[in-house]
Amino acid sequence: IDESNFVTRPPVVTIMGHVDHGKTSLLDKIRSSKTAASEAGGITQHITAYTIKQNNQKITFVDTPGHAAFSAMRARGASVTDIVIIVVAADDGVKQQTEEVISHAKAANCPIIVAVNKMDKEGANMDMVKAQMAERDMTPVDWGGEIEFIPVSAKTGEGIDDLLENILLQSEILELSADPEAKAKATVVEASLEKGRGPVATVIVQNGTLRVGDNIVCDTTYGRVKAITNDLGKQVKELGLSETGRVLGLNEVPVSGTIMVAQDSDKEAKDIATTRAEHARAKELSKSTKVSLEEMSGLIAEGKIKQLPVILKADVSGSLEAIKTSLEDIHNDEVKVKVIHSGVGGITESDLILASASEGCIILGFNVRPTGAVKSKAKADGITINTYSIIYDLIDDIKDALSGMMS
Ligand code: GTP
Ligand code: NA
Ligand code: MG
Repeated sequence: IDESNFVTRPPVVTIMGHVDHGKTSLLDKIRSSKTAASEAGGITQHITAYTIKQNNQKITFVDTPGHAAFSAMRARGASVTDIVIIVVAADDGVKQQTEEVISHAKAANCPIIVAVNKMDKEGANMDMVKAQMAERDMTPVDWGGEIEFIPVSAKTGEGIDDLLENILLQSEILELSADPEAKAKATVVEASLEKGRGPVATVIVQNGTLRVGDNIVCDTTYGRVKAITNDLGKQVKELGLSETGRVLGLNEVPVSGTIMVAQDSDKEAKDIATTRAEHARAKELSKSTKVSLEEMSGLIAEGKIKQLPVILKADVSGSLEAIKTSLEDIHNDEVKVKVIHSGVGGITESDLILASASEGCIILGFNVRPTGAVKSKAKADGITINTYSIIYDLIDDIKDALSGMMS
């Protein structure tokens, strides 16, 4: 790669956290708008993105919904991001979606800042939040760990400057850079079909500059950029590095999370998209069922796999911890188990999403089962779910798989 054109680019920061912990309010305060108040029922139901300026430096924020049903959006948010802000309400503490976003953030492998929000409230308890987070491997800097905890209030504005300064500091450490002259490459964070406008894609530019008139491909869709509106709804001619806007001109609605790339000609754009669409159809037709533990075991025996990623769910935290420890203890010199997520509770769609982000990942349930809907989705997505009611059966299966003995 020729890095001679590289310049510093603004950070993309994703705000995640439990429902109603104040993600949107915090962003509103930062942006001084009133989005949270105008949302249906005050619930964020899609991903939105804004670029702001702090001390003349830009920051792009991605807001994600906290409601349990929107796990896929949180996963997507985590994947476009440079820095994750986990919002925890100081009066409510760590909740189910807080735990989930910790896993997403860790999987995305990017720096995390914890914003402890609602500090203005009577029951605010910073130490409680710190203790709960420390229990989950998120130890605060002032407790000897590595995570910055910033007390904030979206209501009074307390701590917001601190938060922004912290983001800029983290961003400097990351040395984010890209080439504004390169062919534009942008991630689609959200897309929809709009009356009278056709397919509209909300994108964040990762490299290059996206301009009106560019020929673009986005997975199996293509087109030419007809118009771009920025996050304030204003028409613009182009989007620069890390900037966000809505792009018109694709022939179909692209899948969220896909990458939009500018091409030299409209023919090229069309050819790439149509070839991909044909491949996708062929793949759909020949869709194999699932990678079973036996097949993984075979791959391990052939030396093709060095670790077995698992997601572990159990009915109570005691057995969860016990199984997790035993699993992490099983290893030979070559192969080990990697528990990428563990939690108390049933096997959910969110687990499937995490599993599909990690190649060969298997979901293990102890005394918990997936619902019928989750089971059939797992089957369709080719994800293996094994459930057990005896700890030793589970451990033995994994031992056998690791030693390649199941094949
Ligand atoms: P979802 O998008 O639905 O997950 O929620 P959210 O995390 O975006 O929370 P939202 O901004 O919608 O805020 C939820 C409620 O908490 C609203 O009633 C806000 O007014 C309130 N709230 C948010 N931040 C603060 C704060 O710092 N102090 C107080 N007192 N209330 C807050
Ligand atoms: Na809300
Ligand atoms: Mg919200």
